[in-house]
Amino acid sequence: MKKSRLLAFVLLSFALLSFAWVPATISAHEHLLSPDRILTVAHRGASGYAPEHTLASYKLATKMNADYLELDLQMTKDGHLIVMHDETVDRTTNGTGWVKDLTLAEIKQLDAGTWFNEANPDRQNANYIGQRVLTLDEVLRYFGKRENYYIETKKPDLYPQMEEKLLAALKKHHLLGKHTRKGQVIIQSFSQDSLLKLQKLAPRLPKVQLLDRTQMTSITDDQLDFIKTYAVGVGPNFRALTPENVQQVRSHGLLLHPYTVNNETDMTRLLQYGATGLFTNYPDVFQRVKASL
Ligand code: G3P
Ligand code: CA
Repeated sequence: MKKSRLLAFVLLSFALLSFAWVPATISAHEHLLSPDRILTVAHRGASGYAPEHTLASYKLATKMNADYLELDLQMTKDGHLIVMHDETVDRTTNGTGWVKDLTLAEIKQLDAGTWFNEANPDRQNANYIGQRVLTLDEVLRYFGKRENYYIETKKPDLYPQMEEKLLAALKKHHLLGKHTRKGQVIIQSFSQDSLLKLQKLAPRLPKVQLLDRTQMTSITDDQLDFIKTYAVGVGPNFRALTPENVQQVRSHGLLLHPYTVNNETDMTRLLQYGATGLFTNYPDVFQRVKASL
């Protein structure tokens, strides 16, 4: 073999070998909806450390560099969308009653942080006392286009026009349409009807079908084919996941973001199965897990 050919052969062999030795890495450069991007979704904010759905919780999530702030929506008696998980204010404020029976002014009187200090004495913080319930509008105004939002329509059957109001809020804050990052807002719901309605109203807005444990355990290829017609992914209860059903979902070209995963062992296992991100109350823990892979 001529010297130059031998040199070329050696260089090519090195190139191929070094390519093969590159460890699998999690890309942070792909767009948000890329299956190669692993997303940290701050579930109700950094809600393991601060009262859920409050400004304190969302600010902490942004400090932890979460990819998304997760918001659950409820609607007040006078038609305002607020960010709250439950249909009543009882668990997460010092008030009582159904959100649908209270006006925004009444809900704004409530303390949405003291309960956290009482429930988590080891994580209590004086700053949490007097945190207020936030409207969707307030969250979007405060964080603007700097952040990405993963928004759940909760109990849409209970709240007329929830989807229209959500879209109006996104439009007002320039988070709908061509001036947004790809995937800057994802809409999630357990309600297929709500997602189908949104698909008609805003077909380009990415949607994720949430699945409870029973639904995920019994999911069929036909159901996944149908979900694929209106959603970019599914958000299943993580306890229902196996290597097989994760691959089944992924083989349909769907993203997979399990909820709500709070310990490192589960996080690592789910990434090994092929999850493309997850909801967690501890975004810092998942960031560490991602960095260690
Ligand atoms: O939205 C994903 C996960 O949050 C669904 O459960 O009850 O915490 O809203 P939940
Ligand atoms: Ca949720």
